[in-house]
Amino acid sequence: METSSFGIAIMAAGKGTRLNSRRPKVLHQIGGQALLLHVIAAAKTLVPAIQIYCIIGHQADAVRAAAASTGVHFILQPEQRGTGHAMQQLRSHFASTGQTAPENLLVLSGDVPLIQPSTLQALCAFHLAEHAAMTILTAVPPSPTGYGRVLRASDASPEVQAIVEQKALTPAQLSTPEINSGIYCFRTSALFAHLDSLSTNNAHGELYLTDVAALLVAHRERVVALRSSGPVEEVLGANTIEEMMHLDAAMRLATARRLMAQGVTIFRPETSVIDASVQIGPDTILQPFVQLLGDTRIGANCHIASYNVLENTHLGDNVLVLPSCVITDTTVEDGAKLGPFSHLRPATHIGPEAQIGSFVETKSAWIGAGTKAHHLAYLGNATLGANVNIGAGTITCNYDGEKKHPTTIGDGAFIGSNSTLVAPINIADTAYVAAGSCITEDVPADSLALGRSRQVVKPGWVSARKQSARQCD
Ligand code: UD1
Ligand code: CA
Repeated sequence: METSSFGIAIMAAGKGTRLNSRRPKVLHQIGGQALLLHVIAAAKTLVPAIQIYCIIGHQADAVRAAAASTGVHFILQPEQRGTGHAMQQLRSHFASTGQTAPENLLVLSGDVPLIQPSTLQALCAFHLAEHAAMTILTAVPPSPTGYGRVLRASDASPEVQAIVEQKALTPAQLSTPEINSGIYCFRTSALFAHLDSLSTNNAHGELYLTDVAALLVAHRERVVALRSSGPVEEVLGANTIEEMMHLDAAMRLATARRLMAQGVTIFRPETSVIDASVQIGPDTILQPFVQLLGDTRIGANCHIASYNVLENTHLGDNVLVLPSCVITDTTVEDGAKLGPFSHLRPATHIGPEAQIGSFVETKSAWIGAGTKAHHLAYLGNATLGANVNIGAGTITCNYDGEKKHPTTIGDGAFIGSNSTLVAPINIADTAYVAAGSCITEDVPADSLALGRSRQVVKPGWVSARKQSARQCD
């Protein structure tokens, strides 16, 4: 469908009073992304960013900053006097800049975040085919309470008489099941011509964009409705945190379904929290209660046990992650084994077949192929070669209170338990560090370093002490 005659307006200036939150409504997140960014992403599939006009007002600077990188225009609605008033600001923008307004306008709500490009395409196509002045996207949800209702000329007719807001419904209209989604197409000239006729004579004392429907009908313009054929969540608004969490769950379940269709086994998918951006290879298994966030990519045939939180993390194939790891900005190569309870912090690289076990923390660490750190270690600013063995309790002392310093450990080196490696330090290939050492000088290849005092044993010391105590009595 040709959408070149369309501009898109996104209404995002409202406060979101019903959220009881200090954050503006359109910056609340579902599916790991702000509501407004979901809507802008859908809009950008239809038209280029320069044909998108985002109307902002409440905490405009924060909203603008969050969406600046999308390249859309921002239009300020300094006082938020209703959705009709938001459209008046758009009209003023075209009047004051001399820019030509687009022939048709697709109007989206910043708080209807799950809207899909295919539905918007269908709406625009219907609008053009019907030669309508206004086309309203509608739905019939299980509970229409709270929404504006669409009154059609007759049940079978696409023609609409009016949109009536919840608070203005007569007792007879209360049972009207078809809701206004807050998404519309307009012939721009028809919309702009009637904006000045809106009144604030309603329950909120606002200028309602919805009232344009009846105004157009009164002027013999064609107003039609298209009922969305997709899942109802696609057109639901997010006015309360509870509604947002409902949409978040719906979105994540859709992501889980997509992944399952691609061969990923997800036990109890309703418990997993997977961002839409996540990619997973076939035959990978996710146990319940796993969070996969941001730019996370997982290869084939991996096993991710419960209570793992992976963010911006790339796993190769055949990786095993035992329960309760927190892994951020990390790359893990094929066949590695992690957890339980590993904490891999940013800029960690785990080589193929490496093993990182319980209570091991890494940060800016390169771990070579087949290297093992099975328990209780801190590896920071560290570069470990292949087949290194890190004993329990090994600490890279990388920070002197002012600067971070590097530790390098060569291939096949063995670090005994409870060693402190004071950086900068280099432990060469195949070297051994004796358990309990504090290592402050480089260790050459093929050497053993002992950094502790020699053990002293005093035979008979215990009984000698007891005897001397008796003599003093
Ligand atoms: C609106 C519709 C209602 C529809 C529902 C669908 C009106 C009068 N009512 O109600 O028929 O069923 O959406 O979700 O339009 N906004 C501005 N400037 C303002 C006021 C609002 O930009 O001055 C923005 C809000 O940020 C929001 C959108 O417009 O993104 C809708 O406003 P909201 O107050 O949520 O309208 P609803 O009461 O949900
Ligand atoms: Ca709303």
